[in-house]
Amino acid sequence: MKKIIIAAVAENGIIGKEDGTLPWHIKEEFQHFKSTTLNHPIIMGRKTFNSLGKPLKGRLNIVVTRDLNFKSEFDEVKIFSDLMEAINFCEEQNFEKTFIIGGGEIYKQAIEFVDEMILSIIKISAEGSVKFPDYNLEDWEIMNEDEKEKFTIKYFQRRNKI
Ligand SMILES: NC(=O)c1ccc[n+]([C@@H]2O[C@H](COP(=O)([O-])OP(=O)(O)OC[C@H]3O[C@@H](n4cnc5c(N)ncnc54)[C@H](OP(=O)(O)O)[C@@H]3O)[C@@H](O)[C@H]2O)c1
Repeated sequence: MKKIIIAAVAENGIIGKEDGTLPWHIKEEFQHFKSTTLNHPIIMGRKTFNSLGKPLKGRLNIVVTRDLNFKSEFDEVKIFSDLMEAINFCEEQNFEKTFIIGGGEIYKQAIEFVDEMILSIIKISAEGSVKFPDYNLEDWEIMNEDEKEKFTIKYFQRRNKI
């Protein structure tokens, strides 16, 4: 199973605001996110799930929280108290791919083990408090780039360690 980070990242590394919202609204970027993740499981942190307000349609929504009492009003949402447990569950289900959709805390942990990253680099310097984790470009090969008016989608694959 391929483990893939998908994120939209401003040129200055910002991915979100303190209040849980995104610093931009780009319809074409949402469409890219939707068409890429549709029919695949998506794993997210509890804060990102809260800011979405409801599960995203057409995908198995998996939320991770350390709060053992956390419950969702949406029965279809799967909840795990550990990120690796969520990943293991997806491995066991033999899913072809699993997308890790944020936010900052989850990306920081997942960037250590994912196979691929699909990053939409938004062509602005955004204001916000949540950042995408630093990564070493030497660890990643850019397989493809798709230039749009307001963002560039970069497809990264982890280089094999020798
Ligand atoms: N631009 C993008 O592509 C993008 C994508 C997604 C989100 N965002 C933005 O990112 C921001 C949210 O990011 P964030 O860093 O504040 O929060 P987050 O990563 O969405 O969620 C953090 C929460 O996840 C839970 N958690 C973290 N690690 C865990 C682990 N190993 N095991 C179990 N649970 C774990 C904890 O929940 P509990 O506190 O409940 O224990 C923690 O408080 C928002 O502003 C949002 O808009 C941007």
